[in-house]
Amino acid sequence: MNEVIKAISDRYTARAFSGAVSIEDLQVVAEAGIASPSAYNKQQWQIVVITDHGLINELEVEGLENLKNNPATRAQYERIISRGGKLFYGASAVIVIAIPESDSEDSVASALLDCGIVVENMALAAHSLGLGNCICGLAKLAFSGENAQYFKQRLGFKESWNFGISLLLGVADLNSESGCPRKRTLDNSKITYV
Ligand SMILES: Cc1cc2nc3c(=O)[nH]c(=O)nc-3n(C[C@H](O)[C@H](O)[C@H](O)COP(=O)(O)O)c2cc1C
Repeated sequence: MNEVIKAISDRYTARAFSGAVSIEDLQVVAEAGIASPSAYNKQQWQIVVITDHGLINELEVEGLENLKNNPATRAQYERIISRGGKLFYGASAVIVIAIPESDSEDSVASALLDCGIVVENMALAAHSLGLGNCICGLAKLAFSGENAQYFKQRLGFKESWNFGISLLLGVADLNSESGCPRKRTLDNSKITYV
């Protein structure tokens, strides 16, 4: 199996981290993100690498608070609390990808699609460097409440840009089941050849 296929099949979501990630590794991961293809080569993304643990903690607290305060997500909040109350699982770094706001649903869908490719490229790069990683959509919660603008500014989002997706990074904690790879069952029935 070649190295790319191996990285694709071995990559897994880690949900327990220990240890720090070097800035050099973070740079390699971020640069794998910006090497992604994009529709019309628009490259409509802004990649923010967060290593400030105080800020990561603030984002996590804000996200959980917004989850708790919304009646529609209260049950999800309770579930997360019963599983340890973590959105970021002790990640050493968080990379947030921001995308431009638009009135056009097609433009938002296109930017989100591009954003998904960026985050998967970064996840694969991280995995190939031996880093634990987790694509994290729930980080959006930090930008969903009344402090959304404050956090967008703290992260240096461009004017009218929004959260797209994020990637949690750290050394996967192999002493915890949540940090270990799980056996993945591939459903080949999803593929048809015509
Ligand atoms: C768009 C997207 C958003 C995700 N958001 C979260 C998240 O907020 N929290 C989390 O723990 N996992 C999140 N995941 C990880 C998925 O739960 C995970 O990929 C899936 O369970 C399959 O497991 P695997 O990545 O180990 O193959 C997300 C994955 C994707 C693609």
